[in-house]
Amino acid sequence: MAASKKVFVKTFGCQMNVYDSERIGEALGRAGYLATAAIEEADMVVLNTCHIREKAAEKVYSELGRIRQLKVRRQQQGKQTLVAVAGCVAQAEGSEIVRRAPVVDLVVGPQSYHRLGELVARASREGRPQIETQFPLESKFAGLPRRRSTQRASAFLTVQEGCDKFCTFCVVPYTRGAEYSRPVAEIEAEARQLVEGGARELTLLGQNVNAYRGNGPDGVRWSLAQLLGRLAGIDGLERLRYTTSHPGDMLDDLIAAHGRMAKLMPHLHLPFQSGSDRILEAMNRKHSAADYLALIGRLRAARPDLALSTDIIVGFPGETEHDFAATLALAEAVGFAQAYAFKWSSRPGTPASTFGGAVPEPEKDRRLERLQRLLGRQQTSFNTACVGRVMPVLFERPGQRPGQIVGRSPYLQAVHAQGTPQHIGGYLDVEILSAGPNSLSGLILQPGRGSYGAESRAMC
Ligand code: 5AD
Ligand code: SF4
Repeated sequence: MAASKKVFVKTFGCQMNVYDSERIGEALGRAGYLATAAIEEADMVVLNTCHIREKAAEKVYSELGRIRQLKVRRQQQGKQTLVAVAGCVAQAEGSEIVRRAPVVDLVVGPQSYHRLGELVARASREGRPQIETQFPLESKFAGLPRRRSTQRASAFLTVQEGCDKFCTFCVVPYTRGAEYSRPVAEIEAEARQLVEGGARELTLLGQNVNAYRGNGPDGVRWSLAQLLGRLAGIDGLERLRYTTSHPGDMLDDLIAAHGRMAKLMPHLHLPFQSGSDRILEAMNRKHSAADYLALIGRLRAARPDLALSTDIIVGFPGETEHDFAATLALAEAVGFAQAYAFKWSSRPGTPASTFGGAVPEPEKDRRLERLQRLLGRQQTSFNTACVGRVMPVLFERPGQRPGQIVGRSPYLQAVHAQGTPQHIGGYLDVEILSAGPNSLSGLILQPGRGSYGAESRAMC
């Protein structure tokens, strides 16, 4: 179909939403829509939303307020604007969204966006809002078109979705549903399309990605380590990553893969949420602080330079100063390259939303600040230790300063260097000259794989 209309997609939240937004754009391409980065010229606006914390969900409603004004302005010029809310807020709130924000024409959950084309047609035909939040029996992946070339050196690829862990604070098991793993062949075909389109790095995504158990070409279920091994065979693909993992699913073959698979980058995001066993139990995390530390020990034995990042929650109901001190102690014991710390946010429908023992907001703020100070120090010292090393950087985009380009180190740090547009997409050796709290700066030397691999296993 010839593209005649324009769609603007705005993404909130996690990397899986970034992936979903790309695929929403592709699905709407089939319905005659071309992506635009200018919201004023959009015939359709899609907000791909996040429900993980209260603030994330509220952002969507303030955005809808602005979009209402835009829709009125366009209407005065005789132009129509369809407004769609996709993603986890759509799933969690369904028709409530249309009640709170009548500007919305379509509400589509994360498992149904392959049907957007047909929903758009129905909304125009019937002139009333369409709400689609079922978990359909057919897989959305089978209903989506081929990947378009993203022209990006690094691409996301969802391999697993949903979560069966039911941590008591988390909405994901309700918004994304039960765990589902895509078949190996389907993932491999998509990976090849992405590499043909210019991707040199793939990050495999799943809410609980290391629980991956997809049908293999041999008819048996494959683990994430087996899947990574298969994808590592794709020519032109230089780097593999995966996120997010649960400590309970970090099995032997995956740990071993970190030691032997050259294309698997030495970085792992492994949330621990709390360092207090009492709070971990109340969170239904199914691991203790000691389990987590022991797991880190095994991972570092397999890959000594493994850089670790994590998620931590402060102020979970019932968290005492003593519990919080255990969180600080666990962070201190591990030493993270990077970390996200959040204040607990009550989410409707989760068990924790009914727990007593609320921590007062000012105390949550104080704990968050103390934790962030520690994590900031760790990140700066990790970055500083990289100065003087040569490492391969995959350059992804222009920087903000003239002549500057930005890429990622093997450890996922942002690296700035002086370069030309031709360097973007390049996988180049860079000598690290300086480090800041959030990034490194360096000098491009020559193409190659650097000295970060088996030869030099020192931690940054
Ligand atoms: N409150 C605060 N943080 C949360 N997270 C998930 N749910 C909540 C909540 N209700 C955090 C967890 C998770 C990350 C993606 O978001 O740390 O790992
Ligand atoms: Fe949420 Fe992660 Fe726990 Fe699953 S494992 S319920 S996605 S925090």
